[in-house]
Amino acid sequence: MSESIVLEIRDLRSHFFTAKGQVPAVDGVSIQVPAGKIIGIVGESGCGKSMTFMSVMGLLRYPGKVVGGTIFLDGRDITHLKPKELSKVRGNEISMIFQEPMTSLNPVYPVGKQVREAILLHQKVSKKEARERVLDIFRAVGISEPEKRYYSYPHQLSGGLRQRVMIGMAMVCRPKVMIADEPTTALDVTIEAQILRLMQRLCREQGTSIILITHNMGVVAEVCDYVYVMYAGKVMEQAETFALFERTSHPYTQGLLRSIPKLDEKAKRLYTIEGVVPNLLHLPKGCSFCTRCGQARERCFSERPKLYETEDGHGVRCFAYEREGVFV
Ligand SMILES: Nc1ncnc2c1ncn2[C@@H]1O[C@H](COP(=O)(O)OP(=O)(O)O)[C@@H](O)[C@H]1O
Ligand SMILES: [Mg+2]
Repeated sequence: MSESIVLEIRDLRSHFFTAKGQVPAVDGVSIQVPAGKIIGIVGESGCGKSMTFMSVMGLLRYPGKVVGGTIFLDGRDITHLKPKELSKVRGNEISMIFQEPMTSLNPVYPVGKQVREAILLHQKVSKKEARERVLDIFRAVGISEPEKRYYSYPHQLSGGLRQRVMIGMAMVCRPKVMIADEPTTALDVTIEAQILRLMQRLCREQGTSIILITHNMGVVAEVCDYVYVMYAGKVMEQAETFALFERTSHPYTQGLLRSIPKLDEKAKRLYTIEGVVPNLLHLPKGCSFCTRCGQARERCFSERPKLYETEDGHGVRCFAYEREGVFV
């Protein structure tokens, strides 16, 4: 890849230490995020999408722990930053928004002031100047009557407006990377489309890279430049979006695509791949998808496939592509 890589996750492993055993929620994940691009992370619920990026943000909590791998932000290793150093990076150089903004916003504090605090925490500007910047970002994210909304409490806003506030808060310090974890899942389809377009525009205007975690392949097709498909804590396929849809290779990705919901209709049932995500404490000996794979051969049950490169930048974790080189 010739573009400059702003975030690089290398062989990340995060485990949960539970009474029943060690759960490999993130099991050797490598992801490269080029500057100014939108990266889609897809996969069924429980595949490790959120935990991968909670690890990146240093937000993984007990009993979860990063046990291996390296995270580089703009070439700097941020894997083991101390809390104080991390708090300078988080919200400033890299920020994250979640599906339900109510859990991230303080219910007893006006939203404008909350965004202002985010600025004051990271940048040496006066309160007045910070307030101006809040109003600017509120306008940029399409919040009408920003002066009035500045003093609104979270519960006084609609779900769509709250999500706009969150995006504003995540973008106000002009981070290099914004991670959006299912930011539109709770919203209706019209609002969802607006929010996605807004993120696309900000990405272009500010040069911010966006990592969009979603289980909606339609959304991926619409807005992402690159896609990583995750299953049971591993990347099963990765490619440029165009290539992923043109030359869908992994049987798991093929399954996900068969049940693509259109952008204007919420998926009634998300996926129709038979079977369920395996219990991470009792993973199959071979490929983690073998128990649900229509194309599985004997070997798939006993050996673990690597990520094979089928064309430039297109990796597939399936023995059917083994004749190709191993992805590095
Ligand atoms: N608090 C926890 N204790 C034990 N295991 C957990 C905990 N939180 C998450 N996990 C494990 O991490 C896996 C990945 O979770 P997550 O990253 O939230 O999935 P996704 O975001 O893809 O839906 C889960 O399937 C579960 O096995
Ligand atoms: Mg999640």
